[in-house]
Amino acid sequence: MMKFIHITDPHIVPAPQTLCALDPRERLAAAIADINRHHADADFAVLTGDLAYLGEQAAYRDLRCLLDDLAIPCHLLVGNHDERKNFRDVFPDTPIDENGFVQYVVPTPVGAFVMMDTMEAEASAGIYCGNRFAWLEAQLTALAGQPVFLFLHHPPFDIGINSLDASRLPDADRLADLLKRHGDVRYMFYGHVHRAVWGAWRGIPTSALPGTNHQVGLTLGDTDEMLGTHERPAYGVVLIEHDCVNVHLRDFIDESPRFPLLDKASKGAPDAASLPAPPRELAGL
Ligand SMILES: [Fe+2]
Repeated sequence: MMKFIHITDPHIVPAPQTLCALDPRERLAAAIADINRHHADADFAVLTGDLAYLGEQAAYRDLRCLLDDLAIPCHLLVGNHDERKNFRDVFPDTPIDENGFVQYVVPTPVGAFVMMDTMEAEASAGIYCGNRFAWLEAQLTALAGQPVFLFLHHPPFDIGINSLDASRLPDADRLADLLKRHGDVRYMFYGHVHRAVWGAWRGIPTSALPGTNHQVGLTLGDTDEMLGTHERPAYGVVLIEHDCVNVHLRDFIDESPRFPLLDKASKGAPDAASLPAPPRELAGL
């Protein structure tokens, strides 16, 4: 069994700035503390981009300080809010490909984790250029016969929220052809959408998570409006064993009490009088 942590879109701003009336540094620190407390046995964490909101070196330095407290190693990807040079100046150990894109392969006991760089400076939409496709093709050729797990910021498909679909990764057919040729791509983990979304694309299971700071509202239908929300953040705890992948969503700011769900004596639900009161925000729902 392999266990890793998926974190996405921390959108760090330099201290003491806030973003969307929240403190992204505090939020990521809370996630890290929760991971250290409950999941320090994970092999590593993967952060799928939008590490910094405006890509300043100061934001990456703050991110580096925060990640220094993480008890497990972490692998970083860039997203459309990132600035590649500033990121590289602060995280020089993160591998790059021969063209300077933040793309690399992490071998694991369950297969190869392939990290893709889908960002283009000044653009919110994803881009995967010819050079990056050439890199990916070479990696997938070298990984023939091995299971592959893909990580990228922009999904190559629509999720039904127009404002996000406008900035998805183009060239979906080209990417799909490449993955199909490899023949054993087990899962795609992505960021960008600031929501928990599960599904499948061209037969490959996919999932995204809420960001650790703010979220994007569920505005389906005929609107291009992108709403920010204060819906709750989360990270993912991913368990992979043989042919099985499970992603558990962890609300790391949840402080509601835990209690035995089965009363040992009656073997039924516990008596209400013996339970702690639910959080005020949930009481009466
Ligand atoms: Fe983001």
